[in-house]
Amino acid sequence: MVHAKWESYLAEAIKRCNRCPLHESRTNPVPGEGNPNASLMFVGEGPGADEDRMGRPFVGRAGKRLDLWITDYLGMKRSDVYIANTVKCRPPGNRVPTDSEMAMCFPYLLAQISFIKPKVIVALGKTAAQDLLGFPKATSLKLLRADNPYRRNGYYVVVTYHPAAILRNASYESAVREDLIIAKKLLEVG
Ligand code: URA
Repeated sequence: MVHAKWESYLAEAIKRCNRCPLHESRTNPVPGEGNPNASLMFVGEGPGADEDRMGRPFVGRAGKRLDLWITDYLGMKRSDVYIANTVKCRPPGNRVPTDSEMAMCFPYLLAQISFIKPKVIVALGKTAAQDLLGFPKATSLKLLRADNPYRRNGYYVVVTYHPAAILRNASYESAVREDLIIAKKLLEVG
């Protein structure tokens, strides 16, 4: 894996971060990983138990599903893309991060986006969509997906289901495929 200099600085800053209470209960921070020059970035909600133990994003069951989406729907490898989360430390018991925790962690995500300069960011689930697009938490994923893709400063955002949601309800899988095809087309047209 190639590590850009900014990644080491950012990882160090996140390791020392005490801006929100999540640092108190984490085992390892999970800054993110992948191709620092990726044209496609995924943003999830926050690290789970496996990620907290390993210090890497999406390495548990949901991560295995995400890996399949990357290969099967996008024809890419996990090492081609960059994977990050709205918060870099595990919320206890896998609860949804609070608005304040997300706000405290947002500068790290923003820094990742500005260094990587992806063409497309796929928001995995409502929390990531809210963080990236600024919609209220109550907005349903169905409603958020209906307006795909979103044009933002220099990149597109495509909202889709979180892989953990698909593990609970497989009927959403075809929607994910549709969303990732939108992302793929955006990458192809440049
Ligand atoms: N779920 C997330 O949102 N992020 C991870 O890194 C793992 C599971």
